[in-house]
Amino acid sequence: MATTVERLTYAAAQTARVAFYGAHYLVARVVARDAFADADTPSRKFPSLRATLKGMRALFVTDLKNAEQGLYPMPLDLADEMRRARASLLYLADIPRVAERRRRNGHDEVDADADHLPRYYRQNFHFQTDGYLSDDSARLYDFQVEALFAGTADAMRRRAYVPIARFIESRDPARMTLLDIGAGTGRFLSFVKGAQPRLKAVALDLSEPYLERARRALSKHRSVKFLAASAEDVPLDDASVDAAVSIFVFHELPPRVRIRVAREIARVLKPGGIFVLADTIQYGDISDCDGLIDAFPTLLHEPYYESFARSDLGALFGAAGLKLIDTDIAYLTKIWVFEKKAGRKPQGRKRS
Ligand SMILES: C[S@@+](CC[C@H](N)C(=O)[O-])C[C@H]1O[C@@H](n2cnc3c(N)ncnc32)[C@H](O)[C@@H]1O
Repeated sequence: MATTVERLTYAAAQTARVAFYGAHYLVARVVARDAFADADTPSRKFPSLRATLKGMRALFVTDLKNAEQGLYPMPLDLADEMRRARASLLYLADIPRVAERRRRNGHDEVDADADHLPRYYRQNFHFQTDGYLSDDSARLYDFQVEALFAGTADAMRRRAYVPIARFIESRDPARMTLLDIGAGTGRFLSFVKGAQPRLKAVALDLSEPYLERARRALSKHRSVKFLAASAEDVPLDDASVDAAVSIFVFHELPPRVRIRVAREIARVLKPGGIFVLADTIQYGDISDCDGLIDAFPTLLHEPYYESFARSDLGALFGAAGLKLIDTDIAYLTKIWVFEKKAGRKPQGRKRS
């Protein structure tokens, strides 16, 4: 159980986060007010401020409770928060560039030398400067996500760790491997290694600059491997990982690629292993949010988002051999937990 001081510090830190990142989001919104005005049509249902704050509060109450139960350390690294907040000026300087790209629908402006990467990937998702393919983009990414979610992104990511923590509870973490697919800058694995330093982890991502950032973020931890590779062709052996996770990635994959990635995950997981997928809520999960889901793809250049928000992930992964065993909603993030049935033959080929 946390001390009163820890609880108060947690509440103050999260409130400060919401105010700080929320203010940045508002600045971005003011600069791009024409785009938001277009998105805000009377037929769309958006959550009220009251409902938004209620949703955030519920997220933080559960986050605190999970930390108190010992699932992960209390998120009270204030020095780290301050360091991360220093990206504010970079973020603010980039807002007009993003707004201008959105105005002219400039979503095809990433590094021309990146033609070894899949075509669907070489886009300016979120109208982001350089897409996922520069050091500047990697430096800004975490801040942009926190601003978009008004300071709640880390707490939503931590929720994806809960089923993994429970899975590890009765096992020896030093003998287990967790694969993070689309690990980005390593934010999630930083929480995981903070909670379970002995667990082996693999960070896989197509972006070298993001992986480089992840390497730095995780440099104080042992037993982390970094793979610059695609999720549809994972360079790991069949049945070689105990658990896998993927956070905020699936909505950026075209439907045909989602099927290939689901098969790859089923292939590399050991029988009895789990896969945790965390991504945005879908249509109908929170009725007041359907308008947000409608507006998201055009505001943020998310070409595959609508199909994701309508897709039946239980059926998609079921066809690959993974059974849906649980779901959870953490504010604007939904978490699906899948299990690979024990004794099931791998779907793909064996790697050398
Ligand atoms: C929206 S970011 C999510 C990053 C991180 N998981 C998080 O929690 O913020 C999507 C990430 O997935 C990576 N990605 C997208 N498609 C991929 C693919 N086919 N294979 C590997 N990584 C991919 C991108 O490079 C990017 O780092």
